[in-house]
Amino acid sequence: MRQKIVAGNWKMNKTMAEAQALAAELVGMVSSEVNTNTSVVLCVPFPYLPVIKYQLGKSSIKVGAQNCSEHEWGAYTGEVSALMLKSMEIPYVILGHSERRQYFGEDGKLLAKKIDKALTATLTPIFCCGEPLEVREAGNHEKLVKQQVEEALFHLSDADLKKIVIAYEPVWAIGTGKTATAQQAQEMHAVIRKQLASKYGEAAAQEISILYGGSVNAKNAHELFSCADVDGGLVGGASLKSREFVDVIKVMK
Ligand code: PGA
Repeated sequence: MRQKIVAGNWKMNKTMAEAQALAAELVGMVSSEVNTNTSVVLCVPFPYLPVIKYQLGKSSIKVGAQNCSEHEWGAYTGEVSALMLKSMEIPYVILGHSERRQYFGEDGKLLAKKIDKALTATLTPIFCCGEPLEVREAGNHEKLVKQQVEEALFHLSDADLKKIVIAYEPVWAIGTGKTATAQQAQEMHAVIRKQLASKYGEAAAQEISILYGGSVNAKNAHELFSCADVDGGLVGGASLKSREFVDVIKVMK
């Protein structure tokens, strides 16, 4: 059975004190209110990782980073490597988020390297793909997303592919309050799964968790997470408020 996952992406938000307060609230609320097999992950800014990890302690909530370098070690001022994350026992890393693609010029070739570094460090990459509005309006969304998946993932062995989590995040739905409809989400998740099946076989494709991201909140999560090929969510804005995020998690049965 595919792992159900709800991951919060805090992006570049919160002071240290605010981050600790939010994590403390979530530990309490998740332990008293949440009773599912869903993995809950908080992808927090780099400097907060060890503190939040320590704070989560024995709670079921896991911590993740939002990026890592394509290099292993060395003279890359300002960068953070997958091996550093590994040395802090950080289990997850988001890679290829559309904001990284858009503002930091990350492309498929670079992301393939980052995926490799994350896997070598035994991190679980949450690989993001998704089309901008103009691409959807031109009807080229399937083509672009398939290209993103192929460029970053299709060099992987069968064994390594199984270690990846994919997040489909249409760029026009991120931070806009405008979500994909359940039908649009299901269609694209099915496209991605079929593409994985064509390269890695149906059984492997059925094992990969594909999350939906883009303005997920407590109101729309139920419809989106009910789709056959949607295995959870990558949640930005709604993960910054404990009540809202826990209500999203509680949608997962
Ligand atoms: P959002 O962000 O939920 O605020 O749209 C999602 C994401 O960027 O991962």
